[in-house]
Amino acid sequence: MTAEHPSPDLSFEQVDPVYRGFIEDYLRLHGVDPIKFCKPLPGQDEMFFNAILPNYEFDASISAFKFVESAMRLGDAYRQIAQGVFGGFDKLGTVLDFASGWGRLTRLLEQRLRPDQIYVADIYHQAIDWQVATFEVNGVHSAKDPAAFEHAGKHDIVLVGSMFSHLPTELFHQWLVRLYDLVSDRGVLAFSVHDEAILPAGEVMDPSGLSYLRFSESGSLDLEIYGMSYVTEAFVGAAIARLGSGLSWRRFPKGLYENQDLYVVGAPGVDISTLTVASTPMAGFESVTTLPTGEIEFSGWAIERTPWATIEAVEVHVDGVQVLSFTPQALRPDVLKHFPGSANTPVGWSFRIDHEKAPAGAMLRAQFPSSSGLTGYCYAQVPKPATFTYSGWSRRALR
Ligand SMILES: C[S@@+](CC[C@H](N)C(=O)[O-])C[C@H]1O[C@@H](n2cnc3c(N)ncnc32)[C@H](O)[C@@H]1O
Repeated sequence: MTAEHPSPDLSFEQVDPVYRGFIEDYLRLHGVDPIKFCKPLPGQDEMFFNAILPNYEFDASISAFKFVESAMRLGDAYRQIAQGVFGGFDKLGTVLDFASGWGRLTRLLEQRLRPDQIYVADIYHQAIDWQVATFEVNGVHSAKDPAAFEHAGKHDIVLVGSMFSHLPTELFHQWLVRLYDLVSDRGVLAFSVHDEAILPAGEVMDPSGLSYLRFSESGSLDLEIYGMSYVTEAFVGAAIARLGSGLSWRRFPKGLYENQDLYVVGAPGVDISTLTVASTPMAGFESVTTLPTGEIEFSGWAIERTPWATIEAVEVHVDGVQVLSFTPQALRPDVLKHFPGSANTPVGWSFRIDHEKAPAGAMLRAQFPSSSGLTGYCYAQVPKPATFTYSGWSRRALR
């Protein structure tokens, strides 16, 4: 896909019915209406068509599941900020999702807030126009140059997901100042970055604390303004210090998306020192074996990236009914290489289940409740002989 030749829109009707079942179950568990959420993915959405889809070998069904999963992870972080700073969604005034793209978060926010409370902004004006037409939210066109970005509103939450993770040094500072100015007196600015821990192998961290690499998923944004950046906490801390003295801010490792760190900065006088934003546990099925006894054995991995939290159980559901609960059996340091910079070692698990309890075609959901209060999920379909469909995050990496 390129800017001149976008992909066709992807309708959720095109997704394999097994994955659609996973998606609908997953959304309902998060209190999200699947019909409202599953609007077609616009073909110009580079985040989906140029980043998620190639990452999953152009399998539209796995990619659609991963899109939904990432939106729910975003939602978990957002809910913790809304709850921790304001006491819940019902206490919020207006919010701004800056660099919102094609509205991954808006699909969820429109189910939590009134449309007139939601502002979205992006340099892709067609993405903003599409969101305004689709969700009836307030749209603001952004610009390359922060000084040329015209918006006078003040918002309780200004979220900037995965934009600072792509900015070169000067723009990093300029956008931080410009966007902090849009935070209401009681509000917060929340933005995500790539930490130095995930700097690609062979690259060296720049002594300034920000390393800028000239590539990205975007087929249209100039590499002068949008590439891949990696930062140290010291760099971000110094950038925040330029916004004003004595501001309350916190870093939440792996707090947003699968691999980005989340920073939250309070408006002057807003103390966020007790705020916690945990990272949602991740998990995947890895193998299935039919045993001579007629039982089927499933195994997989799970990881908790919140430094102070642990996965407390594996709960197995067949077609929505819990059939097993146990604690993860072993550590899986071999999986850690897929999650550089993670605070905790992944865990392994396996379980056996009788075909009578889990007939071929049934939906298996493994749940991983964490001491953080968040839960990770992964899905599989109970196989007919020689087939196995599951929501593992990377078949390639973990086969
Ligand atoms: C990786 S995408 C993330 C999109 C969205 N936050 C999400 O989670 O799906 C980065 C977004 O930053 C936007 N962006 C880049 N430069 C921008 C600017 N100067 N003003 C506003 N948005 C910008 C891109 O257009 C793109 O939509």
